[in-house]
Amino acid sequence: MSFLRHCGVLKITAVSSASALWPAGPWHRATVHPFARVCLSCSPSLPYRAFSESQGLRDSLAAEMENGTPKAEKILTLESMNQNVRKLEYAVRGPIVTRAMELEKELQQGVKKPFTEVIRANIGDAHAMGQKPLTFLRQVTALCLYPEMLNDNKFPEDSKQKARRILQACSGQSSGAYSASQGIEVIRQDVAKFIERRDGGIPSNPDNIYLTTGASDGIVTIIKLLIAGQGKSRTGIMIPIPQYPLYSAAIAELDAVQVNYYLDEENFWALNIKELRQSLHEARKHCNPKVLCIINPGNPTGQVQSRKCIEDVIRFAAEENLFLMADEVYQDNVYAKDCAFHSFKKVLFEMGPKYSSTVELASFHSVSKGFMGECGFRGGYMEVINMDPVVKQQLTKLVSVRLCSPVPGQAMMGVIVNPPQPGDPSYNQFNSEKLAVLNNLAEKAQMTEKIFGQSPGIYCNPVQGAMYSFPRIEIPPKAVQEAKAQGLTPDMLFCIKLLEETGICVVPGSGFGQREGTYHFRMTILPPTEKLKTLLQKLTQFHEKFVKEYS
Ligand SMILES: Cc1ncc(COP(=O)(O)O)c(C=O)c1O
Repeated sequence: MSFLRHCGVLKITAVSSASALWPAGPWHRATVHPFARVCLSCSPSLPYRAFSESQGLRDSLAAEMENGTPKAEKILTLESMNQNVRKLEYAVRGPIVTRAMELEKELQQGVKKPFTEVIRANIGDAHAMGQKPLTFLRQVTALCLYPEMLNDNKFPEDSKQKARRILQACSGQSSGAYSASQGIEVIRQDVAKFIERRDGGIPSNPDNIYLTTGASDGIVTIIKLLIAGQGKSRTGIMIPIPQYPLYSAAIAELDAVQVNYYLDEENFWALNIKELRQSLHEARKHCNPKVLCIINPGNPTGQVQSRKCIEDVIRFAAEENLFLMADEVYQDNVYAKDCAFHSFKKVLFEMGPKYSSTVELASFHSVSKGFMGECGFRGGYMEVINMDPVVKQQLTKLVSVRLCSPVPGQAMMGVIVNPPQPGDPSYNQFNSEKLAVLNNLAEKAQMTEKIFGQSPGIYCNPVQGAMYSFPRIEIPPKAVQEAKAQGLTPDMLFCIKLLEETGICVVPGSGFGQREGTYHFRMTILPPTEKLKTLLQKLTQFHEKFVKEYS
């Protein structure tokens, strides 16, 4: 079902025949596309709105009705609730995914479809797509959760040592206890050592490390800290377009000002300093831009920034007094032979004290991506550099309000940054499992680029890193008109039809932002190789058919 507001009256429209049993009375059906979330007779050109007003509305409506009549007036209504929450959108889990889940159920119930399974390529969740967890990571975390197994000789000695070390640092030696708000101290020390190894010996101070509930939590926490002012002095946050929608959602929720800078699609989605300057200049007319967010390697665009580009960005941030947020959750996911990951911290320090002692930087990492893909553990860390000590106290106070990030997630982060070393009993297995995941991703990145590269009407940059491809697609004017008539963005129309006809679930580019008049979709490269190949072939064939149909 989907729901609309129209002239102050809430209306309901059916998505599938199975879900059309709704009461009469003040509720009536409207004839709009099942995926449109606006009433066309009111606002034909309003853009499609994602998750916020679909799933939530459905639940609240069910609760509002009692025996077919509305219950007494609610205190919490769509009008009285936090309007910033209504505004925010998160395309990666939007209505297209809800529809994919409905289709899966329909297939299970034996409903005939032109496909036999739904292939989900909408979200960067490796384990959900069948990737096996690395043995050592699970052994240590399992031991932390159930220390009785420390006596079990099936576990290698190095996994036991690591688990004991973590447990000894836990209050009451239990992973069920709250930890310090900033995170377990030995794990923060291990994170600092990991950063030092990664960055060729540049020192890292465990006091600057915060263990977080995934990178998302760290990113939102830092954004919270940075927001201030009213009207023209409200904090502006510069984000890449296309972006990972956590950023736009957090900015909307916290009522900051989103300042877009466009990545250069014609140049492998590179970051262009001229574009940054122009965007900043424009933004200064209506807000106070103080933050520059970088995602490297990029989601959804899959580019890996060159060292020169990072230096330019740091120089720009220094000149323009911008706080840098470096989202580096894909630092292990670099596939292109001529690309390498350079951390912002390393480049900053190699640029000398003029920059390393002044530029304020927060960088983020996560257990969710890389070769680990342990998204469900919700682990991550952030490192803050050059943060004023009194502000750091405020940051520690802010994170302490939520007590601590989940201790199993901290333990997972702890193992990832302190893996088996050559000579340790688990080294060979750990290393071969890690390489197998990364090599397979590299192979799938190449396959994606190759198949899209041979498809007329699809323009796809190389997947240099991360886990996604963000191809630009040709959408004929007739399809654009039809989408408009249905209250949809053209790329949403494409993705809906793709899903309904082939069972392939990808996310429309409009959920990430794209230049006006261009259309994209984002898909992950995570499905198993053979499934990904089938997906790419079916998708390109479908696109060809779609273009013909509307030409
Ligand atoms: C660029 C980027 N940053 C942050 C995150 C959030 O990751 P986490 O699971 O660590 O919260 C994601 C997740 O997909 C991401 O792609």
